[in-house]
This record gives sequence, structure tokens and C-alpha cells, in this order.
Amino acid sequence: MEKRKIILDCDPGHDDAIAMLMAAKHPSIDLLGITIVAGNQTLEKTLVNGLNVCQHVGIDVPVYSGMTLPMVRKQVVAENIHGETGLDGPVFGPLHKQAEPIHAVNYIIETLMASEGDITLVPVGPLSNIGMAMRMEPRIIPKIQEIVLMGGAYGLGNMSPAAEFNFLADPEAAHVVFTSGVPIVMMGLDLTNQTACTMDVIERMEAVGNKAGKMFGDIMRFTYKTQNEAYGLAGGPVHDATCVGYLIDPSAFTLKEMYTEIDISGGPSYGRSVCDYFGSSKKPANAKVGITLDNDRFWDMVEACLRMYP
Ligand code: BDR
Ligand code: CA
Repeated sequence: MEKRKIILDCDPGHDDAIAMLMAAKHPSIDLLGITIVAGNQTLEKTLVNGLNVCQHVGIDVPVYSGMTLPMVRKQVVAENIHGETGLDGPVFGPLHKQAEPIHAVNYIIETLMASEGDITLVPVGPLSNIGMAMRMEPRIIPKIQEIVLMGGAYGLGNMSPAAEFNFLADPEAAHVVFTSGVPIVMMGLDLTNQTACTMDVIERMEAVGNKAGKMFGDIMRFTYKTQNEAYGLAGGPVHDATCVGYLIDPSAFTLKEMYTEIDISGGPSYGRSVCDYFGSSKKPANAKVGITLDNDRFWDMVEACLRMYP
């Protein structure tokens, strides 16, 4: 099976951790590196969480520490959903795994510049690392095969009435990415909220019986509660894992091409992804936006990935 080379850019984060678990093991994916960004919590915390997840289940992939702050706006975090640590729930032993001694933005630039144009970026946090890399070295832009990201929504927001968390946390970086011309697949809340992880799913993954299955349960039991309290959802959606699911089996997803613009005007819609669903602007589409997924096939993929751990 030909492996798809990816860099996973994340802010772990509960659903980020599930994306890591999947991307690190599936045979169709070659996970070159994990770059960390501030988002769900401060960088100090998301970095520790990323390293802990890798160490706990034995993901032997280099981890790079990235942007501490968004490009322009004041920092916001999602403590209400992810807790004080950014990954409340699982308990980890003493941490030995360390981040690589290169900044994530430099790693992204160097890796893309040395590539054959065959690397897909998978950002599932605020787009600060990717936007900064594009501004620091615009020659990386034609080197990116595709960006498959979690963020935005064509419908309702979750961090403000209009905006989704990842885009609201760094709207200017999202603007840089959406105006770059790189082909984008956008898994927004309209699709990702369809993956609410119910107690049935949690118990099914725990029954896998290994460390990865147990960690899945410890993680998703936490957001089961917070997502219900915040949004009345039937469980914590595994938003970020949908990007990895799409890479594994795109046929389980339906997408629609849309011209998508990020609101950086600073008003009540700041950070909103304005998606031209009906094509009324007549502007050429710059993103394929997720509409639906086959839930049964998606959870089968998640379980298959968990079973690949010892
Ligand atoms: C996104 O925000 C974060 O809280 C999640 O990890 C996900 O990437 C959902 O809005
Ligand atoms: Ca995330």
C-alpha cells in the first residue's frame, strides 16, 4: 500500500490525541512529524500533552514545538472543553520523551522545501504554525500537496455564535491559509459534530483491551461530559480525527466545493469561515468542505487503528 506522507499539526487536546493515535498507526499513512501549536491550552501544556500521548502508547515520531501565540489577536484557550491541562482525564507517568530541538515552523519549512511536493499538511488546531510558515517562506506553498484541516463551519460556531474555535483562535493565520491557493479539505463543525462519541462507542473502544483503547476511553469520557454541558451533544465529537479518517478512506465522506473566506474584520463574526454554499459569489472554490460522513465506517476505522497497538 502506498503511504501518504503527512505532517500532523495539533494542539492536544482530546480529539487531537485521537487523531494522533490513528495517524501514527494506519498503514496508509506515513506520519513524518507532529508539530504542536498553542490552542486548546497554552503551548507549554499542549506540548506536554502531545509528548505524553506519544510516550504512553509508544508513538515513535518526532515532535516539534511551535507557535506560542496567535499572529495578531489576543490568545484564547478552550479550558471549558479540554480542562486545565488541555487533556484532562488520562493519567500519565513521568515524561521522558522530548521535543526536537527545532522550531515547528522551521521544521515545516525545511521538510517541505526538501520534498518532492508529496506531503499533505493536516492541521487540527489554530493555523498559527502553518500561516507563519507560509509567510516566512512562501516557496513552500507550491510544495504542499494538500491541506486537510479541521476548522470552521458553514453553519453555527462553537466558540462564538459565528466562529469555530480553531479559526477564532487565530483568524489571521486561517486567512493566510485560505488565500494561499493550496488545495484545502475543510472538516468543519457541520461534519465533525456528527461524530459525537456516545457511551456505546466509548465502551466499544475500551473493549479493544490495550493501552490505546484504555486511553481512548479515559480521553472521551472527559469530553462526554464537557461537550454535553456546553453544547448539549450526545458525547464529545472527535473533530480532529475526521481528517485522518478522510485520509484513510475518503469514500466514507461527502464534500462540497465552496469559496471560503475567513472574517478578519474583528466584528461579531471575527474568525467565521464564510462558505459560499450556493455559489452566489461566483468566486472559484478554494476548499472542499465536509458535509457528511458514514459514521459506522468511521468508527470501524478508529477501532482498526486502536487494534494496531500492542
Ligand atoms: C476544534 O477545537 C478544539 O477544541 C478541538 O481540538 C478541535 O480541533 C473544534 O472546534
Ligand atoms: Ca484540535
